[in-house]
Amino acid sequence: MKVVYLTRKAEFSASHYYHNPAFSLEENQRIFGKCNNPNGHGHNYTLEVTVKGEVDQRSGFVVDLKDLKETMNREVLDAMDHRFLNKEVPEFKTAIPTTENLAIAIWKRLEGKLKVARLHRVRVHETTDLFVDVYGD
Ligand code: NI
Repeated sequence: MKVVYLTRKAEFSASHYYHNPAFSLEENQRIFGKCNNPNGHGHNYTLEVTVKGEVDQRSGFVVDLKDLKETMNREVLDAMDHRFLNKEVPEFKTAIPTTENLAIAIWKRLEGKLKVARLHRVRVHETTDLFVDVYGD
């Protein structure tokens, strides 16, 4: 049986800033630059979630599309859209909300939540020029 990959996109907006309390003020400014401004700045993120599996011969689907959409909404968008990531999303109370850490947090939120297909890749675009991919082991 052929394995197929299906991707669903979603957009969300969120603000963040980069700061590591273990660094001095100067180190934070040197390493994070403008992104260290504690008042934050926003991004329009694009999330792509790819699932993989075999096509169900009866339905012709690899995944329950409604389930995928609802899971992404519930686990990611409801928690992150129009939020200040540092202050409102628990993962970023300690981790710096870079696109790298955001992609990992989203993977962990989605992993094991889908009823049929398996999670294959989480891709988060911070800008049109920059994106991060996370795959399972
Ligand atoms: Ni930023």
